[in-house]
Amino acid sequence: MAIHTDKISVEKSKTSKIGNVDFSNLTFGREFTDHMFVCDYEDGKWQNPKVIPYQAMSYEPSARVFHYGQAVFEGMKAYKDDDGKVFLFRPKQNFDRINKSSARLAMPAFPENYFFEGLETLLKLDNEWIKPGVGNSLYLRPFVIATEPAISASPANMYRFMIICSPAKSYYNSAVRVLIAEHFSRSANGGVGAAKAAGNYAAQFYPTSLAQQKGFQQIIWTDADTHTFLEEAGTMNVFFRVNDKLITAPTSDRILDGVTRKSIIQLAEDLGITCEVRQVTVEEIKNASKDGSLKEIFGAGTAAVISPISAFEHHEELFEIAEVEDSYAKKFKQTLLNIQHNLSEDKHGWRREVK
Ligand SMILES: Cc1ncc(COP(=O)(O)O)c(C=O)c1O
Repeated sequence: MAIHTDKISVEKSKTSKIGNVDFSNLTFGREFTDHMFVCDYEDGKWQNPKVIPYQAMSYEPSARVFHYGQAVFEGMKAYKDDDGKVFLFRPKQNFDRINKSSARLAMPAFPENYFFEGLETLLKLDNEWIKPGVGNSLYLRPFVIATEPAISASPANMYRFMIICSPAKSYYNSAVRVLIAEHFSRSANGGVGAAKAAGNYAAQFYPTSLAQQKGFQQIIWTDADTHTFLEEAGTMNVFFRVNDKLITAPTSDRILDGVTRKSIIQLAEDLGITCEVRQVTVEEIKNASKDGSLKEIFGAGTAAVISPISAFEHHEELFEIAEVEDSYAKKFKQTLLNIQHNLSEDKHGWRREVK
């Protein structure tokens, strides 16, 4: 019989894979550290939290996640400064968001003490995988899946919460070209767009692959009703700079409440840059591009940090955005990276040291 405990038990990996990893040449999300955190929900409570060697798992084919996609996830990073101190960036936001996502998918909330103790235990064990230097990080993927072996279409009674970790460099470093959605939609009013539900991402793959065939890397999604308001990209919120002003869409039940987005809105205020949070129409951005007032578009998200957008297409019309000197994209990226890597003052208390 399994012994259930409230403490996090640790089983260390006998060997490390770290010697096989080329940290100067990482493909995002392909390499995983030596350990993972797991915790199961059974008999109405989360129990048996443990850090164990990273390994394959086996579940019955009837596990509900395979049939109904009852699964949510998070994306966050750990950073190391030159003294070897490890930091998380606004991790409480990710903790709150995974539980918000879980609630939307009728899944049980995960306890805060398990989340942070599990994460910190894991990061201490896999410390060597976090490389110092701006741009290096350890990408952290908390997620929850419905494991109950039963295919009735209703919420499961058994779940597994896990965290796996993957060494990363900021990706999408070069500017991306985007297509503005005219037919497909990512989310709808009253839907699950604001949750990091696994199915939201699967549903984007097909339209995104069509966009890629046309030479675009990403789609900027528009509202499902009219396709006239710009909302967000695949894994990024989007900012528009018109002259010296920033504009970004408000969050809603269609848009993910991004941690990077809310940090940029705060940094803009700190830097004296006006940032309007309001609905943005495709038409106004096309007009701003035509009259020369559109200076920048950039995406903002944990994985890419800031990703400049160099062109967009709408109704078969292509709009190129010339690179500007002293771009806001560069300024925000540098400011964020400096805070994340403990290189600058953290006046909003966004860093959390893993001790
Ligand atoms: C749909 C979507 N929008 C925006 C973001 C950016 O959010 P964050 O800045 O919290 O990573 C993400 C990534 O998590 C995302 O998946």
